[in-house]
Amino acid sequence: GGELVETDVLIVGSGPAGASAALFLSRLGVRNIMITKYRWTANTPRAHITNQRAMEIFRDMGIEDQVLADATEHDLIGDTVFCTSIAGEEIGRIHTWGTRPDREADYRLASPCLVVDIPQTYLEPILVRNATVAGTQTRFSTEYCGHTQDDQGVVVQVRDRLTGYEYRIRAKYLIGADGARSNVAADIDLPYEGQMDIAGSMNITFKADISALVDHRPSVLYWVIQPGSNVGGIGTGLVRMVRPWDEWLIVWGYDINGPAPELDDEMAVGIIRDLLGMPELEPEITGYSLWGVNEMYATTLQRGRVFCVGDAIHRHPPSNGLGSNTSVQDSYNLAWKLAAVLQGYAAESLLDTYTAERAPVAERIVTRANRSAREFGDIFEALGVVGLDGAQMAAALEERKADTPAGAAKRAQLVHAMETKNYEFNAHGVELGQFYESAAIVSDGTRPVPEPGKQDPDLYYAVSTSPGAHLPHAWVGDNTTRLAMMDLAPYTRWTLFTGISGGGWSDAAGTVARELGVPLDTVVIGPGQAVTDLYYDWARQREVEESGAVLVRPDKHIAWRAMSVPDDPTAALRTALTTVLGR
Ligand code: FDA
Repeated sequence: GGELVETDVLIVGSGPAGASAALFLSRLGVRNIMITKYRWTANTPRAHITNQRAMEIFRDMGIEDQVLADATEHDLIGDTVFCTSIAGEEIGRIHTWGTRPDREADYRLASPCLVVDIPQTYLEPILVRNATVAGTQTRFSTEYCGHTQDDQGVVVQVRDRLTGYEYRIRAKYLIGADGARSNVAADIDLPYEGQMDIAGSMNITFKADISALVDHRPSVLYWVIQPGSNVGGIGTGLVRMVRPWDEWLIVWGYDINGPAPELDDEMAVGIIRDLLGMPELEPEITGYSLWGVNEMYATTLQRGRVFCVGDAIHRHPPSNGLGSNTSVQDSYNLAWKLAAVLQGYAAESLLDTYTAERAPVAERIVTRANRSAREFGDIFEALGVVGLDGAQMAAALEERKADTPAGAAKRAQLVHAMETKNYEFNAHGVELGQFYESAAIVSDGTRPVPEPGKQDPDLYYAVSTSPGAHLPHAWVGDNTTRLAMMDLAPYTRWTLFTGISGGGWSDAAGTVARELGVPLDTVVIGPGQAVTDLYYDWARQREVEESGAVLVRPDKHIAWRAMSVPDDPTAALRTALTTVLGR
């Protein structure tokens, strides 16, 4: 029952996944409505590490400056500490998120953007505001209650939580961005692998200015190993910076097989004092809650006209900082495909490539995040504290200082154990190395080839123009401007990159764009052209000859490439585009 409202795409959820889907669709000129259950956006800081791919997406949307204005900058986020408490002894430090000088080179060479920290409470309003300004109809306090779909579209039953009024929204497509307990995913019966609630965890947020203990070792994360820290949770105790250096969030585990702890102010203050090692501290508590660690991903992400994005399809601990980033990237993959179909230049089959491309990513990040949480076990083992508690654990920790064979063995083992944390905190390959294989990519049988000494696909990102890979980064421009390659390939169109001796491609692209109605532009890189390859980085990275061409999709993944200009570039490009668009 209820009145019927019409739109092209209805989005359920205004978190990182939903609000970015709304923003992308609005920027592409697609009518959309975003509904969300609560009266406003996230009310706790939640996700925060924002990786280079997510920042590039914000750059693409023209909101990078807004995000940076509310973020804690790169230089303040990476001196990650392992300690017995914030005021207590240090066990070690690790440069994280690409701040170690040698790794920072990898990060800076790979992207125009660096990793920063912006809590979800700050990011979501930016996304929602920009989506709404760009055209999204945003409806707070509005709940998804179910849907039906047929060949023409989806009818969604919604309820206004202020008035109780129920109405229906008819859309051509529905996006379920309704989080880890997604009703949309349940209603389309998505298949999952893995389990929910494998470990118990609690978040405690509080205010306390502890600058004196941290501003010489600035970081987002301070990991605490002390009695109790090997129970549940995300590997060990965590004191996380929300705002430097007076707003914090503690993550502390509990045994999920026992009764849930009855968290109150007194217990929260006790945990804060223990982890900070400040028994007299009077923190201002701003909230606490219990949550479960999940290890679960969907293997199909869509059913007919309904698609799920974000935590609805991947549920995992915050380790590696992948939750919000991957959610934004799911929507970035899906939105241009919906636009291409709605605007009539791609076949509906293009939409099937969403699962083909993003389901492997969901599996990879869920697996990596959970493995990273478990790998704290290496540090417990090195310290010899596995299974110990209380005074026994304290004594075992003390032993690492001893001039004894056992002490020496612990010190040696710690060196290795700390190394494994690079897989959580400098996993550049996981963050950037997403490679797609689907009908929306014309494979030439190649894959990115790692640089010598950088073989590990989790730690290192391999630059390549192999179809399916992400467009390599290079700075280009002229005497007055400096642009990233990605700036020349905006989300609103397809882009064909070539060099001066690939002159034939421009006409070919013009012809094919007209024939197929595809928004496609050619960018010629070279002296005297729109942009010059300032550092000759593009020439070193493009892998095709100067006369070759690289076809980039709106989401910056390479759809197809030609190693050199063929006799009939128009025919070659037409074949490639009709293939990837399913026409
Ligand atoms: P998200 O959960 O953010 O959003 C879901 C949206 O759907 C909300 O807008 C909600 O209102 C809406 N919704 C749900 N049901 C609805 C219905 N029936 N009708 C209408 N709207 C509906 N990650 C991390 O990296 N570090 C961290 O420290 C934390 N901490 C953390 C704490 C807590 C308490 C939670 C819940 C989550 C985290 N996370 C996290 C995970 C991180 O927040 C998560 O990966 C992203 O928010 C996922 O974004 P989504 O947009 O997919 O879902």
